[in-house]
Amino acid sequence: MNLPPHLSVQGGHLVIGRHDLVALAQEHGTPLYVTDEQRICDNYTRYQKALATLYPKSKVLYAAKANGNVSVLRALGKLGAGADVFSPGELELALSAGMNPADLLFNGSSKSPGDLALAVAHGITVSVDSLDELHQLDAAAKAGGKKARISFRVNPALHIPTHPKIATGVTSSKFGIAHDKILSAYREALACSNVVPVGVHCHIGSQILDIEPFVKAAEVMVRVAKELTGIGVVLEFIDLGGGLGIPYHHDTDPAPTPEEYARAVVPVFVEGITAAGISPALWVEPGRYLVADSSVLLTRVNSVKFAHKNFVNVDAGFNLLIRPTMYDSYHEVIVANKAASPATETYSIAGPICETGDILAADRLLPAVEAGDIIAVLDAGAYGFAMASQYNCRPRCAEVLIKGKDKALMRNRETTEDITSTMVTPPWQQ
Ligand code: LLP
Repeated sequence: MNLPPHLSVQGGHLVIGRHDLVALAQEHGTPLYVTDEQRICDNYTRYQKALATLYPKSKVLYAAKANGNVSVLRALGKLGAGADVFSPGELELALSAGMNPADLLFNGSSKSPGDLALAVAHGITVSVDSLDELHQLDAAAKAGGKKARISFRVNPALHIPTHPKIATGVTSSKFGIAHDKILSAYREALACSNVVPVGVHCHIGSQILDIEPFVKAAEVMVRVAKELTGIGVVLEFIDLGGGLGIPYHHDTDPAPTPEEYARAVVPVFVEGITAAGISPALWVEPGRYLVADSSVLLTRVNSVKFAHKNFVNVDAGFNLLIRPTMYDSYHEVIVANKAASPATETYSIAGPICETGDILAADRLLPAVEAGDIIAVLDAGAYGFAMASQYNCRPRCAEVLIKGKDKALMRNRETTEDITSTMVTPPWQQ
């Protein structure tokens, strides 16, 4: 199997950077997420450079939802990344990671009055998703004695080749304002006293392995930008969102690169803004591309069962990685302590959760597996821990961060007490 450069096999063990994953599992216990900070930095730098080489006013805003550990945000913030934040929690994480408030965009289709007040208080640009939200934000800005900087999220209504649950720039999605209604939305914003439209935003979906939809979205966005300029909106940025996919099937998926993305999208962008006579910044919001391949999820084999098929029962399930259950996603798996052994048996890797759908990987050819082995689930860094739950009263696992020769916890393992500590006894049960 093709491995990215930060993963290797040494002495029969799977290794991340300079660290033996079997040894990390022994030291910290399982289940365990292990993340390579250098890989995240390399992915970010590559993405930023690919765009800035062709258009210097390009900026990468990391989609914090992909992996919201503050250590990840801090590493990216140090390199100059901004962030797409989707909740007050993500907003506060980005600020506490040292990111510049001017480099954040507060996204989301359902913001509460508290969310809007928080954005106003911190002076964060808001991507507005409805006219109702626009007027609520106008009122929140007035109450806060400030002007709120906004963009609207445009729904370009395209065909997006990805899982339907994560296609957003399609007619049927809950996100954004239809591209043919967007002009009147901006007119309404221009008429508000306490909001200033400064940008325009879209995000068409996630895990997209074809560059063409991004080009089509860019075409819609520069056309909209020209029309907006015509009605007097001064655009400081055009945000084309995230969505670039990664090859989860290492040997067979197409692997579009940031350079290919930039070579296809930036000329459309530059031609469009030149025609409009403007020079806004180009913002993008990748999440998955920056972090997915930086992490592995380590899980220990509890038992092996030979039944109508062969099951490897492990200690991590959809409580810690829900993607296979939720989107039928594929993740490569490797027996970390037998990484050089020949694959001879077919197994399904089953988690400990009380649901039939709790299968991390189906029908995989692996070396003969036994209790105590350590299975590494690859490409778990995006929407992995971020979507973890405490289902079945299972505490969420620890996360280790490595960088070069260094390694340290970036999240402690939860305990059952952490779960029960927020439970309170109603008076009649006391
Ligand atoms: N910008 C906005 C407004 C978004 O909603 C998202 C992702 C991104 C950027 C980043 O997209 P990315 O570059 O990571 O594709 N849980 C799903 C993915 C959900 C994506 C949600 N929005 C999964 O595990 O595949």
